[in-house]
Amino acid sequence: MLKVDSIQKTYRSRRNSVRVLKDVSLKVLPGEVVALLGRNGSGKTTTIRTICGLVLPDAGTVSINGFKLGQTEYMAQMGALIDTNRGLYPRLTPFENLRYTCIVRGIPGKVATDRAKYLLDLLGLWEKRGVPTQTLSKGMVSKMAFALAVAHDPPFVLLDEPTLGLDIDAAEVLEEQILEMAKSSKGILLTTHQMEVAARLSTRVAILADGVIAVDKPKKELLERFTVQSYRITFTEPVELSDLPPNSVLDESRTVLEVTLDHSDQIYELMDRLRPRPIKSIEKQEVDLAEIFRAYSPRKELQHAKAN
Ligand SMILES: Nc1ncnc2c1ncn2[C@@H]1O[C@H](COP(=O)(O)OP(=O)(O)OP(=O)(O)O)[C@@H](O)[C@H]1O
Ligand SMILES: [Mg+2]
Repeated sequence: MLKVDSIQKTYRSRRNSVRVLKDVSLKVLPGEVVALLGRNGSGKTTTIRTICGLVLPDAGTVSINGFKLGQTEYMAQMGALIDTNRGLYPRLTPFENLRYTCIVRGIPGKVATDRAKYLLDLLGLWEKRGVPTQTLSKGMVSKMAFALAVAHDPPFVLLDEPTLGLDIDAAEVLEEQILEMAKSSKGILLTTHQMEVAARLSTRVAILADGVIAVDKPKKELLERFTVQSYRITFTEPVELSDLPPNSVLDESRTVLEVTLDHSDQIYELMDRLRPRPIKSIEKQEVDLAEIFRAYSPRKELQHAKAN
């Protein structure tokens, strides 16, 4: 298990100090994909950098599988993608970069070669295996950064905005890999601003706001909690509805009715009421993660606007 326990962090400089993490605790279990969500500047990267030992917290502890940050065994337990240029040698080829990284992380030569080849092939970088890494496109560099993070096949992987800047095919390959890793019991902590990515990949969602974890729950539970009994009923032709059902809106074309019910049973009553008008489709409206995100991380008023 990856465990972040009550970490606190204030960045201090001579001029000012920014209190970013007030009290952040998190857990990632094997097989879980935890999406750490939060607005720009909420402290997601700081949290991940703290787990990697790149930021020293003012208080709190981090451990993976019982090893504390600072113990030699700790680093072997995880791989991280933070800054896409990190750990890549621009003059070495993708193959050399990957093989070298594997060897530094203790993988024997032959296995390192195979692993490097496997990852290059998997991520569609095989053709670029022999060119200097500095000549790769931005998206290719992102793929390399992902490959480096998982090079030594660690049990826990931290991914800070892994699909940023990737084309749809590359993003899909990466998403598949993340799901595969979770299936084979790896624990994954990822950040993203793409709510659909979080929705597709995560098993748990944690939202960071104002320096604390505002909510940390299984994705399914969150979605269920926010689901209202909301339906969209489309008619094949414009309809007349003299008394609209409560909590409902008929659109201008008079062909789409949106209704929110208190209980799903009320759908039968509603159907009786709508009979015999010709119904084309009935869809249940789904809540999405963006709505949930907004509920837990309310938008800040503009400081500027407030002053005026
Ligand atoms: N090295 C640093 N020195 C001073 N302040 C920093 C440093 N790193 C980050 N900060 C500040 O800490 C806050 C949190 O930054 P962080 O990068 O952790 O946010 P984030 O949630 O990853 O944001 P984003 O979604 O934009 O990536 C910001 O106000 C940022 O300016
Ligand atoms: Mg960040």
